[in-house]
Amino acid sequence: MTKIKRPPPGHLPFDATFRATFRDLVLWRRDVRRFRRDPVPDKLLDDLIELATHAPSVGLSQPWRFVKVNSPQRRQAVWESFAAANEEALKEYEGTRRANYASLKLAGLKEAPMHLAVFADESTTTGGGLGRQTMPETLRYSVVSAVQTLWLAARAEGLGMGWVSILDPAAVTRALDVPASWTLVAYLDLGWPAEEHLDPELERHHWERRHYTGDLVFER
Ligand SMILES: Cc1cc2nc3c(=O)[nH]c(=O)nc-3n(C[C@H](O)[C@H](O)[C@H](O)COP(=O)(O)O)c2cc1C
Repeated sequence: MTKIKRPPPGHLPFDATFRATFRDLVLWRRDVRRFRRDPVPDKLLDDLIELATHAPSVGLSQPWRFVKVNSPQRRQAVWESFAAANEEALKEYEGTRRANYASLKLAGLKEAPMHLAVFADESTTTGGGLGRQTMPETLRYSVVSAVQTLWLAARAEGLGMGWVSILDPAAVTRALDVPASWTLVAYLDLGWPAEEHLDPELERHHWERRHYTGDLVFER
């Protein structure tokens, strides 16, 4: 990632061109499951993770813990968890819906050059508990905000990222040998996308359609 000179306070560089580019970034971010196999520089992933740690967190608790999953054996264990969970999930559907589900590609775990597991450290004392007395789940929400930041940052580098939740979190946590106080929030695969799309894969494959903002905003 190129380091650019920071403007002085009060001189933010967010002009109309930046805003249009930012909108493009948001619209072109995709959940990517179709990867080229060429490697991603480790330094690039480190830079992206560093950027992601500027995400907001409840009480500045910074509860995110990133695990780069490099071991083929551990990756295999995650793949097996995905395959089993996906088979179970398929049983929930019938008829054409079932056929549609079976045809979907729901992970790029085999092809992706990088796997990253992101956990919430539920035992962290950073932040002194501020903001999470009545809503302890905000610790995990904080980790999600880091994941979303990572997603956008990856896309800005031309990288694709996919989020895989069709997993048994206990099996993945075991396979990765992390502290018991860490909760799995996201299992991510990253790599150079084999395809670029402006529409979600699940929409393109007739699983679900995007809703229009008008249906989702309420006034009270
Ligand atoms: C919490 C979370 C879990 C997800 N889990 C999966 C998954 O297991 N498999 C998958 O194919 N996509 C998964 N996705 C990706 C969504 O299907 C995807 O974001 C959605 O279809 C919209 O597509 P887009 O991200 O390309 O806009 C997940 C996304 C989120 C936010």
